[in-house]
Amino acid sequence: MSTATATKILTDRINRIEVSATMAITAEALRLKATGIKLADFGAGEPHFETPQNIKDAAIEAIQKGFTRYTAVAGTPDVRKAIVARHAADFGTDYTVDECVFSTGGKLALFNAIQVLVDHGDEVVLPVPYWVSYKDIIQYAGGVVKYVESREEENFRVTAAMIERAMTEKTKAIILCSPSNPSGAVMEQSDVEAIVRLAHARGVYVLLDECYAYLNFAGSPVSGASVTECKEHVVVLGSLSKTYAMTGWRAGFALGPKVVISAISKLQSQSTSNAASMVQKASIAAVTGSQACVAEMKADYIRLRDRILEGFKTIPGLTCTVPQGAFYVYPNVSAFLGKGGAKTTTELAAKLLNEAHVVVVPGEAFGTAEHIRLSYAVSAEVIDEGVARMGRYLKQLSAASS
Ligand SMILES: Cc1ncc(COP(=O)(O)O)c(C=O)c1O
Repeated sequence: MSTATATKILTDRINRIEVSATMAITAEALRLKATGIKLADFGAGEPHFETPQNIKDAAIEAIQKGFTRYTAVAGTPDVRKAIVARHAADFGTDYTVDECVFSTGGKLALFNAIQVLVDHGDEVVLPVPYWVSYKDIIQYAGGVVKYVESREEENFRVTAAMIERAMTEKTKAIILCSPSNPSGAVMEQSDVEAIVRLAHARGVYVLLDECYAYLNFAGSPVSGASVTECKEHVVVLGSLSKTYAMTGWRAGFALGPKVVISAISKLQSQSTSNAASMVQKASIAAVTGSQACVAEMKADYIRLRDRILEGFKTIPGLTCTVPQGAFYVYPNVSAFLGKGGAKTTTELAAKLLNEAHVVVVPGEAFGTAEHIRLSYAVSAEVIDEGVARMGRYLKQLSAASS
């Protein structure tokens, strides 16, 4: 079937989005793995830890006790109570159960929030580099993305003045992600608060993606939602995936004004309905149980970050900001572009995969042309082996073209 015919079959909205830019790399990595090649895989954005035992036990108990039926679409009152209590204890927020919806993953909570807030032609302000999915989710809703470039030399800092310059009368929302996927940058809390206040004053919504909030190495976790007087225009998008090593469970939530949360629940009622009942029980255990596992994993991520950054120092030409959160490094590879045939980071990532057997994600997926993203949520051995392979390959590239 020709592309033209296929285009007619499908809706405009599905044609406005692309499959994830990382799919091609992932598919090729899987193909190589299947042939028995051992890859150093820095591609996947997920913890390498097991889900803590108390969380698994809660799900098993739920199943054994027959807690396997539909629940309220927005999640049981118990899971929502547990989520709002955790957020209140950590960030001083005062959400009620009606201001919380539990969803099948943080990505769905974000997708639904954008679908209920963003109409055709509405503008959404998005700092660069950005997490891959925002752009497509906004475009699926018919929205227009207004990019705000940040500077690597300033640790990808995003200020209220930068956001304000991108705002017009069509601005409906601003998305902030701190700690950032892909750069690991952590926003200054004063910058987040200034943006929240600016948005509130203009009647614009701030979507706070708190997926990595608990993986903040700069200190205690922080939230822009702590500015409670602006809560009318703040929507928190949370995920248990990274905090508790629960990526496969699909557990996320949104906190926000009742009108927005009710609309998200309505949309959820016509699509996924409730998140899996036993996952809700497991999530209660996660957020109400001991948080020592979170601190332990964070301490490990800091060690792994330091290890990979030390490794990078042995690769001439590779420079990297020091990430203050999440589990990604975002090195600048401009010194190697144009050498050995790779002009873009997408081409360089393909070469690193095929020739050095190292999986990285090209910066083009996140809106920048000179970086690659590596997830260091892997073992120390993978870091050592992967960095050594990268180093050998990049040095070889530099030598061949000099
Ligand atoms: C920045 C960011 N937000 C949201 C998500 C969604 O997480 P999940 O759908 O697993 O809860 C991810 C996952 O990679 C992410 O990196």
